Amino acid sequence: MTPEMKAFGGRRVSGARKVSVRAAANIAFVKYWGAREVAAGLPFNSSISMTLSRCTSHCTAEFDPEADRDEVYEAGERGELRPPPAGWTAPVLAHLDRIRRWAGVQGAFRIATRNSFPAGAGLASSASGFAALTVAAAGATARDADPADLSDLARQSGSGSAARSVLGGYVEWPADLGEVEAGRAPARRLHGPRHWDLRDVVALVETGPKAVSSREGHERVPTSPYFEARLALLPARLDGARRAVENKDFDALRTVLEEEAVDLHFLAMTARPPFFYWTPATLEVVGAVRDLGASGVDAAWTMDAGANVHVICSASAERPVVERLRTLSGVRSLIRDRVGPGPVETDDHLL
Ligand code: PMV
Repeated sequence: MTPEMKAFGGRRVSGARKVSVRAAANIAFVKYWGAREVAAGLPFNSSISMTLSRCTSHCTAEFDPEADRDEVYEAGERGELRPPPAGWTAPVLAHLDRIRRWAGVQGAFRIATRNSFPAGAGLASSASGFAALTVAAAGATARDADPADLSDLARQSGSGSAARSVLGGYVEWPADLGEVEAGRAPARRLHGPRHWDLRDVVALVETGPKAVSSREGHERVPTSPYFEARLALLPARLDGARRAVENKDFDALRTVLEEEAVDLHFLAMTARPPFFYWTPATLEVVGAVRDLGASGVDAAWTMDAGANVHVICSASAERPVVERLRTLSGVRSLIRDRVGPGPVETDDHLL
């Protein structure tokens, strides 16, 4: 049994009808940015990420072979069930259909989900959401699955980075052309969470939904005249990321993180039409983290498709990072996260 299987129970779920799972967001060191097929979550390039532990989605899936209509809810703070946010129901229903076909079962799901962090703000809430949904709903159908099956299934949700959140620790999602063309592209684990105790202090400078979704970003960035140039740089950069993580070499990791964050936003700014996520507060955080790095603190910044800044740092650097970020006027709040184990099954049911 692999460590991931243990993390989310690793059991045959035969007979079980209700499964609850917490899955965490992940932060990409090398980004998935630009899709061959956005609806299927098929990437142009391989990506490497760290699965987090505190920014989680909690999902309960109940499967009833006698029912004939899926129901999807968002669970509120006091356990009340309400309609999910706009834009969430249709992709969830489509994904439940996919899971039913994959499991070869008939019947219907009841789903309830809750996030521990703001959705739609560039914090990969769709990655944790679809990872939790996939593992819980697949578990509720009682079909046996290994982590690669679940990762590939999560990827098909259209939130490709969910493929990485199905695994814990340090994860690579290879864009092997043969596999991608054959329609299969699961992520795989590079190292477990105990390999390197990295922290992610997220500086929230915006909590509202972003103007351009990552889905739209994936469609638009291949129009940048610099898209091919980034692809050409990636084999060496991926190698650098793998080696930096393997050797726990923070300076080497910093180079990859910052180059990738700049390229992600540079491609956005040079797409046709261009789009922008940075705000003045983003630059305030980036400047402060660069100062910390120059003074010998193991801290580096990266970003996803949004204005918020993820400050990746060593365990001993977390305190100076937090103290510095708290002094910045543009930072509304901080989320202190760290590398985590991957999806975990829980008895805390939302339904
Ligand atoms: O998985 P998606 O379709 O939400 O895309 C994620 C894209 C980025 O967050 C910008 C980069 C990444 O690899 O996580």
